[in-house]
Amino acid sequence: MVTANVEAKTEVSKAPFGKTTDGTPVEIYTLKDGSIEARIMTYGGIVVSLRTPDREGKVADVVLGHDSVQGYEPNPPYFGAIVGRYANRIAHGEFKLDGKTYNLPKNNGENTLHGGTVGFNQAVWKAKEIANGVELTHVSPDGDQGFPGKLSVTVRYTLAGNTLRIEYSATTDKDTVVNLTNHSYFNLAGQGNGDILQHELRIDGSRFTPVDATLIPTGELRPVEGTPFDFRKLTPIGARIHQDNQQLQYGKGYDLNWVLDTPEGKLGEAAEAYDPASGRVLQVFTTEPGVQFYSSNFLDGSIKGKAGVAYGQRSAFCLETQHFPDSPNHPSFPTTELKPGQHFHSITEYRFSTRGE
Ligand code: GLA
Repeated sequence: MVTANVEAKTEVSKAPFGKTTDGTPVEIYTLKDGSIEARIMTYGGIVVSLRTPDREGKVADVVLGHDSVQGYEPNPPYFGAIVGRYANRIAHGEFKLDGKTYNLPKNNGENTLHGGTVGFNQAVWKAKEIANGVELTHVSPDGDQGFPGKLSVTVRYTLAGNTLRIEYSATTDKDTVVNLTNHSYFNLAGQGNGDILQHELRIDGSRFTPVDATLIPTGELRPVEGTPFDFRKLTPIGARIHQDNQQLQYGKGYDLNWVLDTPEGKLGEAAEAYDPASGRVLQVFTTEPGVQFYSSNFLDGSIKGKAGVAYGQRSAFCLETQHFPDSPNHPSFPTTELKPGQHFHSITEYRFSTRGE
C-alpha cells in the first residue's frame, strides 16, 4: 500500500460555514499549498471549491457548486459530495447477501442511486484536522437506507503539492456492501465558464460496462475499441458525443463505467483531462477498479450555482472512481462485500498541472 506523505506543509484552517436548515452547524476546512487551495465542508464531505492555476498562473475555481450550505440542500446532482453507502445504481433497489434479500429506497426510477434517498452526501460528518488536511468520519447505523450492518466510515482529504488525495476506509459489524466515491464536477476552464466539449479526455480502460435503458449494467465487459467510448488516447469530449449510439442515448451523453486497466488495489492512473484553452490538466489516480465518466448530461440550466451562474448541460465532467454499478447483483464483477473484521480501504488522487503555451 502507498504510504501517505505526512510531512505537514499545507496550511489547514477551519471556519464556521453556517447551519443546515435543521440547525446543525457546518464547518469548512481550507487546505492550501502554494497556489492550490481546496475547501471541504462537513456537510456531505463536499469539496466546495478547488482553486488551481492555469498555464499563466491565473487561479480559478474548477469545481461546480454553491456559495453556501443551503445551496447544497438538496443537491440532486451530488456536486462535490462523498457518495455512499453505495455509489451509482442498484437495480430495482434490491440485492441478496448471504441468502437474504435487502430492499432499498428507489430514488431513480425503479433503481436506487447513490445510496438512497438520504445518502452520505446529506450527512454532517465529524471532522478533525490532520497533517495536510482533514479527516471526516460518519457512522451509518444498521439498516440505514435498507443496508445491513453499522458502517463506520472515514474519509481523509489531504493536499500536498499539486495533489488532492482522498483516502476512504470503512468497517462493518455485519456483512454488507460498500462503494464510496467523490462526485466533483470539474470544468478546467473554471466553473461557470461554458461547456467542457473542447476538453480532451483520456481514460485508461479498454473495456466498459454497457447498460440497459435504466443505466443498469447488463453484466457484459465490452471492449471500447471502435466505439465512441475509446478514450485510450486524449480525445475531445465533444468529438463523438452526438454519435448515433444507444449507450450514448441512454445516458443523454457519457454516463458509463469504464473497467480500468490498472490492477485493482494498486494506485494507478485512471484518467487525464486537459483543457487546451487554459492549459489545466487533471490526472486521476485510483486504487478502484472502475471510473464513471459522466458528462453532466442531466444539468439543464435550472440549477444556479456559485455567484448565481446557471449550470447548463455539459458544463462539467465527473470522473467518479468506484466499484462497478450494481455489483451486488453481478457476482462476476469485483466484489463490494465487506464483512466484520475486514477493512475497506481505497485511495483516489486528483493531480493538477498545466501544459502548452
Ligand atoms: C452519476 C450517475 C448519473 C447521475 C449523476 C448524478 O454520474 O451515473 O446518471 O445520476 O451521478 O446526477
